[in-house]
Amino acid sequence: MKRNTFRDLFLKRLQPLYDARECAAMLRWYVQDRFGIPYHQFLLDGDEEMSDDIDYLSDLERLSQGEPLQYVIGFTEFCGLRFRTDSRALIPRPETEELVAAVVDENASLSGLKVLDIGTGTGAIAVSLAVRLDHAAVTACDISADALALAAENAHLNNVQVRFEQCDILQCENLSESYDIIISNPPYIPENIRNTLHRNVIDYEPGVALFVPDDQPLLFYDRIASLAAQSLLPNGKLYFETYEEYHPQLVELLMGKGFAEVESRKDFYGRPRFVRATR
Ligand SMILES: C[S@@+](CC[C@H](N)C(=O)[O-])C[C@H]1O[C@@H](n2cnc3c(N)ncnc32)[C@H](O)[C@@H]1O
Repeated sequence: MKRNTFRDLFLKRLQPLYDARECAAMLRWYVQDRFGIPYHQFLLDGDEEMSDDIDYLSDLERLSQGEPLQYVIGFTEFCGLRFRTDSRALIPRPETEELVAAVVDENASLSGLKVLDIGTGTGAIAVSLAVRLDHAAVTACDISADALALAAENAHLNNVQVRFEQCDILQCENLSESYDIIISNPPYIPENIRNTLHRNVIDYEPGVALFVPDDQPLLFYDRIASLAAQSLLPNGKLYFETYEEYHPQLVELLMGKGFAEVESRKDFYGRPRFVRATR
């Protein structure tokens, strides 16, 4: 290939699916990850940097079918760490990084905290907290054995110990241990908006990670909050990522569970997306 042939082809194949900004961002990310060089160098050296070892055309085919970039390259970055990503688990989102950053910020001075991440997926939250909190003992659970296998790979990749357990939290009567921090980004998207989501989400990411029944949007929050109310240590904290539309109902639900303090928090865009409840 000659200089920029690949860039032109990439943009042409992806423009029907993504807007121009997204295409450009994806190209930059793809090039940096696959070629292992800064994007500006690719712009200078173009196709000369492409190695024969990587099947770019097959990657492009997958991307043009709508498969997320993170699944095609097999990695994403979360909280400055590298995570393996594939169809076994949801791709961690930037707003979840905000939640993790807040937990780290508020608890950085404490050592040896006991932490539980419910619905761990790739292990992004659990592994990041194990890396960033001093001597934290982190447990993570998920209903999906596939997700747990991926999360274990990510703990290994980032050189931390996390205890992984398979569990259906909706069937869980009580937690076997007490924790200083319980954190969860549970499924929260009502089924009725499924068709409004981008096809790279509904066709590729696991439905079990995303959707809740329309008539029970707070299903997971209710169960997890009840478990946390019993199992948090004194002054322990429950952290949730939330769905904006049901945020006020969630705050009310948590106040009804007897937490001493319930704090609603906004994301980077000013939308109410997180809650911290203190026992
Ligand atoms: C929104 S994803 C969050 C994944 C990850 N924590 C993150 O923030 O990127 C929700 C996770 O909850 C898990 N999950 C769904 N139903 C569950 C259940 N009944 N018990 C435990 N985990 C469940 C899914 O498998 C999925 O990994």
